[in-house]
Amino acid sequence: MNPFIFLDNGATSYPKPEEVYSFMDKFYRKAGVNPGRSGYDLCLEAGEIVEKTRKQLTLFFNGTVPDRLCFGYNSTDALNLALWGLLGEGDHAVSTTIEHNSVLRPLYHLARDRKVEVDLVPFDGRGFVDPEDIEKKFKPNTRLVVVNHASNVIGTVQPIRDIGRRCRNRGILFVIDASQSAGKVPIDLAADFLDVVCFTGHKSLLGPMGIGGLYVREGVDIRQTRAGGTGVRSAQKLHLEEYPYRLEYGTPNLSGIAGLHAGLEWIEAQGLSTIHHHEMALTKKLVAGLKEIPRVILYCQDDLTNHISVVCFNLEGMEAADVGTMLDVDHNIACRTGLHCAPLVHEQLGTDRIHGAVRFGIGPFNTEDHIRAAVAAVREIAATPKR
Ligand SMILES: Cc1ncc(COP(=O)(O)O)c(C=O)c1O
Repeated sequence: MNPFIFLDNGATSYPKPEEVYSFMDKFYRKAGVNPGRSGYDLCLEAGEIVEKTRKQLTLFFNGTVPDRLCFGYNSTDALNLALWGLLGEGDHAVSTTIEHNSVLRPLYHLARDRKVEVDLVPFDGRGFVDPEDIEKKFKPNTRLVVVNHASNVIGTVQPIRDIGRRCRNRGILFVIDASQSAGKVPIDLAADFLDVVCFTGHKSLLGPMGIGGLYVREGVDIRQTRAGGTGVRSAQKLHLEEYPYRLEYGTPNLSGIAGLHAGLEWIEAQGLSTIHHHEMALTKKLVAGLKEIPRVILYCQDDLTNHISVVCFNLEGMEAADVGTMLDVDHNIACRTGLHCAPLVHEQLGTDRIHGAVRFGIGPFNTEDHIRAAVAAVREIAATPKR
């Protein structure tokens, strides 16, 4: 059997740095108590890791007020908090066809339940959304724009600074889904004119699953859509208005926060650009190798600028799912096939009719050998006769 090769880092990063596993284990054994609820030493230690990670993430996104960094479970959770908390009856929202269902579905529900008007702007032939097309949709009742920073299907990184500037000029809120970009490309709340950044901890931030959150810029307030325990001011009837309590509910995912802390430390030690450079060098080799294979249809732009290490392709005449099964069963290579929770991307590519595409997601621990093996495997699969 060939050695196992993980090329499904678009779904979640695997493995994590050793430091993440060991710190989570060590920390949770030692101080796995409910943080911020009491004054004994372990409780303070648990609270400290929460506050430290809050600060780390605030700096990571170039935010200014750590309390505005609120922890949740993942970016789906954060996006729901942001969209349900910002959009109301009669509001208009602009988004794109490059979105994940974690944006599309809340918007569809808001359209149904709160009569929110939604416009979705398509991406161009290279996979980019034109900021001018977004601006053309602005109306007097446009409340916010929400954009997937980096596509989980075609890998393009959207021009968020340009979009953000146009939103800020018109007093429209700008929310990004940083699920795929955080930990791969820089995100700068100030320079990118961002109002809300929604992130997930288990992808390129290299933390475990079940931890994520959002940073909310000062001056922007998200209405609460949940309420519950905060550990402080328990006699108060309504949920606290101040951040981070405002958007945090119940006991946090302490071991997740500890793992995310260790993941961030690892990223900081390596350097974001070093990681990105490594991943993109491998992505270029992968794309170059796949291009040589006659039946391969690639869904990425040629020069891979403004791109993350996600590549989708199909083999002419074959179902993506069959290619994925052959990669798994015959070559021990993990990938992701199907619509990748982004149905409109596949609709626009025309791949919805053939049940999606095959996706390779490259992470910091992939090597040139992995890429060579993946290209060789696809070449072998492509050599099987068409049915
Ligand atoms: C672009 C994008 N947005 C949102 C999500 C949802 O992330 P999570 O499942 O961690 O909430 C994903 C995960 O695949 C994604 O790729």
